[in-house]
Amino acid sequence: MSVSRAVSRAGVVGFGLMGSGIVEVSARAGLDVVVVEADDAAAQAGLARLEKSLRRAVDRGKLDSAEAVLERVRVETELDALADRDLVVEAIVEQEAAKVELFKRLDAIVTSPDAILASNTSSIPIMKLGVVTSRPEQVLGIHFFNPVPVLALVELVPSLLTSAETTERSRAFVEGSLGKQAILCQDRAGFVVNSLLIPFILSAIRMLESGFATAEDIDRGLVLGAAHPQGPLALADLIGLDTTKAVAESLYEEFKEQLYAPPPLLARMVDAGLLGRKTGRGFYDY
Ligand code: NAI
Repeated sequence: MSVSRAVSRAGVVGFGLMGSGIVEVSARAGLDVVVVEADDAAAQAGLARLEKSLRRAVDRGKLDSAEAVLERVRVETELDALADRDLVVEAIVEQEAAKVELFKRLDAIVTSPDAILASNTSSIPIMKLGVVTSRPEQVLGIHFFNPVPVLALVELVPSLLTSAETTERSRAFVEGSLGKQAILCQDRAGFVVNSLLIPFILSAIRMLESGFATAEDIDRGLVLGAAHPQGPLALADLIGLDTTKAVAESLYEEFKEQLYAPPPLLARMVDAGLLGRKTGRGFYDY
């Protein structure tokens, strides 16, 4: 039956931070991968990121040959290159209008009648992408975690219109082919992990803001007292304070609950360009 056909030809749109990771794990799993970027410069940057990550895997003895993986990856700048794909994962910028436009185009381009159109979005409702296609039952969220080659978790997010076959075929793709572990979440802002993690980080920021304890002591408390690998403020610096605030805003927008509201200190730090590790300063200096 065609609905249970395994995914062998994968497509990825967007060769940025997440897209390059998704390309890497797919190609390392032996799949044939086509990745489409907006232009040549971004395509080259994505390829350089992929090559660097593969070289690191070889150096650490986790991969035999980077070339063998790269042979399975085709980099393109036209979406038409995705016509024969079994599954396409969208990993472009987190902007609803851009994703809606892309899903309309993918719907017209990808010819296989059972192809799955997936989004790696962190906050845009999957339903908004499904309904602009002629096949919302084949549209779902496949939400990877950064860095994709390292973190095992994938959140599978079917919308109200996604078919059970699509969800199960996607589970087979991420668990059977990619060797990841999937959890199932409803199509609500934040899914499981961010819905729990973001309020935790925001609480730590409020605690700091109120003068209750220092950043170092808050983080040491959670590392030493709750066995977290790093404290919430160090984690916010790693995620990026702009991203942390954006995810908080999308949760607040969805639920209108105070625990998701970005505290003033977070907003002011983002205004100031103190975004964490990527700018050299956030709750800590780097
Ligand atoms: P990024 O900015 O590193 O990469 C996005 C890439 O998409 C860029 O290279 C850009 O040139 C390309 N692009 C934009 N429009 C395009 C189009 N129309 N066609 C082809 N390529 C296009 O962003 P990042 O961090 O990789 O995020 C991508 C998606 O993954 C977003 O939806 C984000 O919310 C989601 N995500 C991000 C995580 C993270 O930790 N950064 C974690 C999980 C999901």
